[in-house]
Amino acid sequence: MLSKKIEQALNDQIKIEAESSQIYLAMASWAETQGFEGVASFMYAHSDEERMHMLKLAKFVNERGAHAIVSALAAPPVSFGSFKEMFQTLFDHEVMVSQKINDLVDITLTEKDYATHNFLQWYVSEQIEEEALARNILDKINLIGDDKGGLYLFDNDVKMIVANTTAQ
Ligand code: FEO
Repeated sequence: MLSKKIEQALNDQIKIEAESSQIYLAMASWAETQGFEGVASFMYAHSDEERMHMLKLAKFVNERGAHAIVSALAAPPVSFGSFKEMFQTLFDHEVMVSQKINDLVDITLTEKDYATHNFLQWYVSEQIEEEALARNILDKINLIGDDKGGLYLFDNDVKMIVANTTAQ
């Protein structure tokens, strides 16, 4: 059984993952309208991943005899300024998610819920990867700046990242 406190905290995280999926979907759509196919497919895939993060939590909550809540989500932005700004937003968002996961892990320790603590270790590792990937892309785009030719090559590069991660 989950304590009420853990149930609430996990439901809060379900909402964060669902909102992450929405934000990345909005980024995918915006990138697609700008003609950046590689960035768009990267963001569509990322949005799907966040939905998977959300579902994994929802199933865990229900398996433990509690109730995963599907709640209303904040509307994401429609456009993101520049690709540099968009990837900065993505990176900042992932840092925020990591913080939320850490807070959640902290709660499991104070509540002595070691099963949930164990379950959350997957998210702890996943956040290390997500932050590293976001930082890597951000470093690249910071080097390119607003150079059109550079952005074209960057888009191709990101396409390769998607191809490699889906081939795994
Ligand atoms: Fe599910 Fe990108 O955090």
